[in-house]
Amino acid sequence: MLNETLHLDTSGFFSSLAQRGAEALGMLMAHTHTAATEKTLPLLGISEAARLIGISTVYLRKLETSGEVLPPAKDEGGRRAYSMEHINKIRESLGRLPQKSNRHGLVVAFANLKGGSTKTTTSAHFAQYSVRQGYRVLLIDMDPQASMTALFGYNPQIHIAEGETCAPALTESADKIRQAIRKTYWNRLDLVPSNLNLVGAEMALLSMGENSTRLRDAIDNVAGDYDIIVVDAPPALGLLSINVLCAADYIVTPIIPTMVDISSSIQFFHILESLENLRLARISLLITRFNGGAEHVRAASMLRSIYGDTILTNQMIESAELLKSGNDMVSVYEITEVRGSRETYRRAISAFDSVNQEILIHAKSLWDSDTVAMARDGNKSKNREAT
Ligand SMILES: Nc1ncnc2c1ncn2[C@@H]1O[C@H](COP(=O)(O)OP(=O)(O)OP(=O)(O)O)[C@@H](O)[C@H]1O
Ligand SMILES: [Mg+2]
Repeated sequence: MLNETLHLDTSGFFSSLAQRGAEALGMLMAHTHTAATEKTLPLLGISEAARLIGISTVYLRKLETSGEVLPPAKDEGGRRAYSMEHINKIRESLGRLPQKSNRHGLVVAFANLKGGSTKTTTSAHFAQYSVRQGYRVLLIDMDPQASMTALFGYNPQIHIAEGETCAPALTESADKIRQAIRKTYWNRLDLVPSNLNLVGAEMALLSMGENSTRLRDAIDNVAGDYDIIVVDAPPALGLLSINVLCAADYIVTPIIPTMVDISSSIQFFHILESLENLRLARISLLITRFNGGAEHVRAASMLRSIYGDTILTNQMIESAELLKSGNDMVSVYEITEVRGSRETYRRAISAFDSVNQEILIHAKSLWDSDTVAMARDGNKSKNREAT
């Protein structure tokens, strides 16, 4: 009786709500942040450019004066203003661009089943840091919530069609990943965006065979074009997450040092243990949003004593700059105008630089060693035995 009186006519109701929601989101996005087509990166001054290239400012000036490298454009104040593209041209002419390796790009996945553990923020900053060092990076958004896609200036439900996500590569054929790759306003950083359609792909995967290694197969199609493939995982345990974990050569798991997050990491390890198709060569835990308070200090030191070398030495701090930039959908590497104090901004950049440098060193050591190739080969033969 009650059910009858309360029964809601749902035919078309929810899709109409979704449609209106997407329109409202579009309007909000137009007000709060810049669309992908208009997003640009701040130009860098000579000291930052020289630091990224790995030479002194004096030497860079000398190279420009002697005509050995092209001088950059000037800003309104007449100061040199370097784009990432220009910096990469200079690197190239000095032989300082990371060499294109014969090896396939290394797959670094940022995963943790705990929602809000900073997977998207951390993976975006790592991808952008690596690109600033001159590497070629593919960033894959595997979360139907699509916060990474939004960070790059897209409204996922309006700007991204189903065929433009990873979905066809997961459910149809692996090579369809190519049609989902798009260039971004970051020189040498490409993106495979996401939207809610990935939920449909996950459901379709349920009834398919070999359904845990489809992302890996898709990535293998394009891995030769990149040095690093960064994957942002969804927080829920399902076939999308499992595909991310099984595609990873290296997993980075951000953990906020609280009891809840630590207990969820234990679940995460049990799940990793139970997966048969991993090809993982390394996992690192990253303490993140560390606020220096008593609870964080206690939990962080406990994490370090329990997990030892698995924990990265550097940790990411809780930062007001990150909260603000997260709201405005920009990364700290994209900030043109500092919102709060310069010191807060400087601390956020410096913490991220240290964390990212450490992750990149681990990634490069796997990439340069034979560990990953062996893990990949081992897996192939395991799969062959299974068939
Ligand atoms: N170091 C930091 N300091 C302060 N705030 C942060 C920091 N890193 C991330 N945040 C904020 O924390 C929130 C959650 O971050 P994020 O979206 O990256 O987490 P997530 O793990 O990807 O979440 P989900 O599980 O929903 O995918 C965001 O509002 C983000 O701006
Ligand atoms: Mg996320």
